Amino acid sequence: MKSYSIKNLEQYFKQYKKSVQNPEKFWNKIAEENFVWYQKWNKVLAYDMTEASIKWFLNAKLNITKNCIDRHLSKRGNKTAIIFEPNNPNEPAQHITYLDLYERVCKLSNVLKEQGIRKGDRVCIYLPMIPELAISVLACARIGAIHSVVFAGFSASALTTRINDSDCKMVITSDGGFRGDKTIDLKTIVNNALDKCPCVEKVLVVKRTNTTVEMKPGRDFWLAPLMENALADHVAEIMDAEDPLFILYTSGSTGKPKGMMHTTGGYMVYTAYTFKNIFQYEENDVFWCTADIGWITGHSYIVYGPLLNGATTLMFEGIPSYPDFGRFWEVVEKHKVNQFYTAPTAIRALAKENVSYVEKHDLSSLKLLGTVGEPINEEAWHWYNDHIGKKNCPIVDTWWQTETGGILISPIPFVTPTKPTYATLPLPGIQPVLMDERRNEVEGNLSSGSLCIKFPWPSIARTIWGDHQRYKETYFKAFPGKYFTGDGALRDEVGYYRITGRVDDVIIVSGHNLGTAPIEDAINEHPAVAESAIVGFSHDVKGNALYGFVILKEEGESRVRENLSKEINQLISDHIGPIAKLDKIQFVSGLPKTRSGKIMRRILRKIAEGDFSNFGDISTLLNPEVVEEIKNGRIS
Ligand code: WT7
Repeated sequence: MKSYSIKNLEQYFKQYKKSVQNPEKFWNKIAEENFVWYQKWNKVLAYDMTEASIKWFLNAKLNITKNCIDRHLSKRGNKTAIIFEPNNPNEPAQHITYLDLYERVCKLSNVLKEQGIRKGDRVCIYLPMIPELAISVLACARIGAIHSVVFAGFSASALTTRINDSDCKMVITSDGGFRGDKTIDLKTIVNNALDKCPCVEKVLVVKRTNTTVEMKPGRDFWLAPLMENALADHVAEIMDAEDPLFILYTSGSTGKPKGMMHTTGGYMVYTAYTFKNIFQYEENDVFWCTADIGWITGHSYIVYGPLLNGATTLMFEGIPSYPDFGRFWEVVEKHKVNQFYTAPTAIRALAKENVSYVEKHDLSSLKLLGTVGEPINEEAWHWYNDHIGKKNCPIVDTWWQTETGGILISPIPFVTPTKPTYATLPLPGIQPVLMDERRNEVEGNLSSGSLCIKFPWPSIARTIWGDHQRYKETYFKAFPGKYFTGDGALRDEVGYYRITGRVDDVIIVSGHNLGTAPIEDAINEHPAVAESAIVGFSHDVKGNALYGFVILKEEGESRVRENLSKEINQLISDHIGPIAKLDKIQFVSGLPKTRSGKIMRRILRKIAEGDFSNFGDISTLLNPEVVEEIKNGRIS
């Protein structure tokens, strides 16, 4: 990786200035000097923010896996590409070299082709955090199939929706998955999901837990024997820079999940560039991002970003609390991890436990720490800094989204002075703006507003799969000509950004993005429920937890209500997944509504927080009497 590393503040400001003055020239140079292309682009960028049409590196040809794997073989063939740390600490870790990875990806590419998958077909990947997950992603990319990874914590019905939305022809899954002391029967979930997915022709099954599973003849195949018979070489498909690379679903504030579609060239350039700079990766470092590959963080900073840089990336199958709360630190010590990247919710959960879990382990390999997924509170930041970093590792608070493909606002470690709870400065190429309620740009420092990005960057999602209109309306309509993030932010006296949270109906629970509408839809399916509204409230580990206000068709007795609460949470689990379960459910006789029938969530949010001080303007409320009732019945 040549021209693109940032080593001091002066270089940062210089690159930033160049990237804004002439973005095309800036990205042209980075793309040219750091990647292998079959054919160069004839235009760097074409865009129309009003139409939500963005294209980078037009007519360039490449295959991202040649850049992730093949080009490293001569120098790094025997270097470890992936360290696999299993759920069970007594099971040996695996070190997969770049050469092993090449062979396994080629074999799976050949298997996919033999099973009828062609360029442009969609393949759903529903796997635990085992090497086959990364290999499946890469094999799809190698043959030009579009991968759609669905986090293996999602329910059968959530899986059905995602498979059907993008018409997946194949599912890659496993018999089961290990998670702490539990075994999850993934194949059973897939079988149930596929009852309603006529588009799926084949299912490939990895053996992981040796659970007995039901295999449908002609549809389901064990992967291992197919791999054994496959050739370990494969000529990568030639892809256009704007060919889709993957679809990844994210919750919207309304309606069904949005299949964010990312394309090949721009995504490659941006994830590689940001990985190198934000994690200051050096040749023999071991990088560990604790996310699941089912989320964008895993796509960009477990698989693509690290491999594009020829890095060693660690994949962890387990959970931070198994076999005990020292597991993360044990793994850091065992594999001498240099860069550690996790979510604030994990930090908060571990900070609650005895610090001896940390102190037992030698963490001296760590050079820097990262966080992502939600705002990090001051207390968690200091615990991370004091106990994990020993006040010696910069913390990069990285702000970005599924839609942005890569990190947009973050300190560059050893370069940008950090400030707790601040994501600090935009990366080169990123032009954030704060907008006020009248849709004007807020100028100057010491200001706040809705966070928008006013110029395209290479890894922005290009569309919502099958629904460009929704893409346009969700991201480019509120502030015409700009990409609207859905987040609020403030700028301090030196221009550092602090992300304050969502300004729409998305709630971030334990770092997971949850829309209120799909949860309400699930609750409303209960025959006893008339209407419901969900809001978030602060929670010391999850960041936010969910509070549901539910109107019943008939008022029930308290025993009946208790059962109802359980049934409601079961419905949510079935429809979305356990992550969306409600912490508190209050049965109410009505919801505060405006005369136009809109629920005043602002009031519900305040009640859920236990803040009865000032509900703001309630003159448009149709039923003010209900507020008193809800206040009195609040669950604390
Ligand atoms: C939303 C995107 C992209 C990685 C995982 C989440 C929130 C993300 C931060 C941060 C404050 C953050 C935002 C954003 N968020 N990182 N460092 N500080 N908030 O991806 O599920 O698409 O969620 O996560 O609200 O909009 P996602």
